[in-house]
Amino acid sequence: MLKIENLHAEIDGKPILKGLTLSVNAGEVHAIMGPNGAGKSTLGYVLGGRPGYEVTQGSISFDGENLLDMEPHERAAAGVFLGFQYPVEIPGVSNVQFLRESLNAQRATRGEAPLSGAEFLKVARAQADALGLDHDMLKRPVNVGFSGGEKKRNEMVQMGIIDPKFAILDETDSGLDIDALRIVGDGINRIMRQP
Ligand SMILES: Nc1ncnc2c1ncn2[C@@H]1O[C@H](COP(=O)(O)OP(=O)(O)O)[C@@H](O)[C@H]1O
Ligand SMILES: [Mg+2]
Repeated sequence: MLKIENLHAEIDGKPILKGLTLSVNAGEVHAIMGPNGAGKSTLGYVLGGRPGYEVTQGSISFDGENLLDMEPHERAAAGVFLGFQYPVEIPGVSNVQFLRESLNAQRATRGEAPLSGAEFLKVARAQADALGLDHDMLKRPVNVGFSGGEKKRNEMVQMGIIDPKFAILDETDSGLDIDALRIVGDGINRIMRQP
């Protein structure tokens, strides 16, 4: 599904990734570990297509396509999801609007009809319930004033709604207490089995 070969990437001319090779088949879970500053988040950003992260050598193919030729939104439409180590706050944009727009944009690229507000709310509430996230949080601006753990759970709600083919979860466990850790872990396993 994902094939990374001899990947070299730099930020502002500073080499960070120096020859990474990794293959991930469908259904597999890989844990990438390393000290702070090793380049784990950088790898996530390069896969997501964050501007400023320049690939200087190597290749990444996803489902047989050249991922590096695709814009971030095209990668998302192809089924790539990036859960951030530090989820960003987006004041003025309601969580539920943001998630519906994201899902419907992806459905459009797959030739599927958009979900109405009511249809979408059903999906969103089911995912929020599964992750123990209060329904009120769906109406609030994206991540604004959420605690660290709530932001991470909100990322997993997003992932459940978008239902990606391939997810990169950057330190999703950080900021979670022991109960939230179990809820999020169960959530990830459930999404992996989602038909
Ligand atoms: N915008 C930037 N400019 C220069 N160096 C950066 C920038 N962003 C990240 N880095 C550096 O890249 C290295 C890898 O960071 P990161 O991928 O976040 O590591 P990890 O997630 O493994 O802790 C670090 O040394 C960090 O300081
Ligand atoms: Mg990191």
